[in-house]
Amino acid sequence: RPGAQEWVPEDGPVEALRAAAPQCRGCELWEPATQVVFSAGSTSARMALVGEQPGDEEDRKGVPFVGPAGRLLQRALDDAGVDRTAVYVTNAVKHFRFTQAGPGKRRIHATPDRVHLEACKPWLTAELRDVDPELTVCLGATAVRALLGTQVRVLRDRGQVLERETSRGERRFLVTVHPSSVLRADDRDGAYAALVADLRVGADLLA
Ligand code: URA
Ligand code: SF4
Repeated sequence: RPGAQEWVPEDGPVEALRAAAPQCRGCELWEPATQVVFSAGSTSARMALVGEQPGDEEDRKGVPFVGPAGRLLQRALDDAGVDRTAVYVTNAVKHFRFTQAGPGKRRIHATPDRVHLEACKPWLTAELRDVDPELTVCLGATAVRALLGTQVRVLRDRGQVLERETSRGERRFLVTVHPSSVLRADDRDGAYAALVADLRVGADLLA
């Protein structure tokens, strides 16, 4: 049975998790990837943002949300009045999953499967245990699947604060779209404004 659990230091702070993550063999995604991409930001943040998985640029740099979607997210946080240096950002899956037609060809993002979400979940659980944010923002369907299950729907439930029982006690969650969906939207301005509006719900909650 695959899973990251045996590589996750028990009760470790984020820095210990980050140091251990490169050894993870919890699923097969480590092998074609360049490196593990762990989290970034403040480990004492009141708000955590959870994405899907690193993209091509994140995989090369080893830092989450530094590619096109990440730049859009940073701008959206600014516009929503969220101090982006004060948040914690991470992903549901820590290795880039992609397909590639051949050596040197462009690497095309592939959505992680349930098996990858489940395998990688012990890292996310351990991070959130240490950071213990007051609000966890799920960016898109993969983060929602990883943290809230299949009962929550991004487009139906976005922009609402949800309370959920976690291993840390009752905690708040907010669902919004993934920033990459804004980049693909026909009405990009409208999609961006809706993302900012959702993030503002979080900013107001913590104000
Ligand atoms: N998309 C994500 O979900 N995470 C990243 O780190 C980059 C792009
Ligand atoms: Fe481990 Fe997650 Fe990478 Fe799979 S994706 S090898 S579980 S860190």
